[in-house]
Amino acid sequence: MAPFSRFLLAVALFPVIVIGVVAAGGGDHGTRYSRIFSFGDSLTDTGNSLRLAATRSGPSSRPPYGKTFFRHPTGRASDGRLVIDFIVDALEIPNPRPYLAGKNAGDFRRGANFAVGGATALGPDFFSSRGLKPFVPVSLANQTSWFNNVLHLLGPDHERRRITASSLFLLGEIGVNDYLVVLGNNNTVREARTLVPHIVAAVRSVLIEVIAAGARMVLIPGMIPLGCEPQLLALYKSDGHDPESGCITELNDLAQQHNRVLNDMLRDLRLAHPGSAILYADLYSVVTDMIVSPWKHGFRNRPLAACCGGRGAYNFNMTAFCGAAGTMACADPSEYVSWDGVHFTEAANRRIACATLKINSPRLLNPWTAEARQRTIGCA
Ligand SMILES: *[C@@H]1O[C@H](CO)[C@@H](O)[C@H](O)[C@H]1NC(C)=O
Ligand SMILES: *[C@@H]1O[C@H](CO)[C@@H](O)[C@H](O)[C@H]1NC(C)=O
Ligand SMILES: *[C@@H]1O[C@H](CO)[C@@H](O)[C@H](O)[C@H]1NC(C)=O
Repeated sequence: MAPFSRFLLAVALFPVIVIGVVAAGGGDHGTRYSRIFSFGDSLTDTGNSLRLAATRSGPSSRPPYGKTFFRHPTGRASDGRLVIDFIVDALEIPNPRPYLAGKNAGDFRRGANFAVGGATALGPDFFSSRGLKPFVPVSLANQTSWFNNVLHLLGPDHERRRITASSLFLLGEIGVNDYLVVLGNNNTVREARTLVPHIVAAVRSVLIEVIAAGARMVLIPGMIPLGCEPQLLALYKSDGHDPESGCITELNDLAQQHNRVLNDMLRDLRLAHPGSAILYADLYSVVTDMIVSPWKHGFRNRPLAACCGGRGAYNFNMTAFCGAAGTMACADPSEYVSWDGVHFTEAANRRIACATLKINSPRLLNPWTAEARQRTIGCA
């Protein structure tokens, strides 16, 4: 299959989130958290990329980003809220401070978000050993060291442990950009597949680090269906499309392979760390369901086209990315799954959050209030 002729736009544009959950004390994992610590890429970045020289003037710093909810660009790669925004609302915990927007302990006592748009799981050395360069100078290693900085700010060891034990950690989605760096450089899916164990190992080391720091509740979102992303549909030439969804088969196979290896790793870690809840969020199934049965979720009939973009197939045009001159957002983003061809609309993010909460209920939500909490964020 013919590779790309151009660099792909980063899922900058997608963050990995670690949500900090605070246990309510006592033997079970607790159903109430005081805060979230999150790691990831643009799917979770709530303001870090706006504060980084390399990414400060990216698309999400401009209108029409934020048009649906915040009414101005906030650095979130969507028309409105991200999955993490809905999750913290449902759990009644504060929205975490983007790490690069804080300085002292007071800024982070209510949580911290380390996710940066464009971030990769793997670091620059890994990519340069393959003659590649990541989109932005932030990997999971940077986010982990930021987390350690925050821990040190928060006080002596016993105080830190009290904080980590009562926090939810959201670790992911992460890894989309790693694959995009490879695929965007004229490499095949076969080459991208060789990254799977490395990315999963990088996620594993963050998990081990946060558990060692006292985390009791960690939520790990898996890989999205890469083959359904309008950007890849428009730019990645492949003959094999799934007849039901219209998505690129070999890219979805890659995402599923990623999720299998990720889940094997999580299974091993659960055995090794029975004192911590290690939860998985199946983004692949949720997003695929929105594409295959759009009407069921209130989307219209072209679930593979972006709401905002520069026309072309799938309304995605690399030289006219959402927000650039000559591009336009659709009138009603809530009818679309994809906002800009790379990131989800607020409507899709809400559904992903609802499905994540539902699947992981009652561990994430207090069983007595679970339904009411899901209703407050608009879950059907
Ligand atoms: C990919 O290949 C095409 C055609 O062979 C070439 O024009 C293009 O510059 C290459 N792109 C990259 C990023 O290497
Ligand atoms: C992330 O870590 C790399 C390698 O240590 C470093 O070069 C880079 O500057 C760091 N990024 C940021 C934003 O601090
Ligand atoms: C993509 O955008 C560029 C710049 O606006 C334009 O020249 C080109 O025709 C567009 N491509 C398609 C397929 O619409």
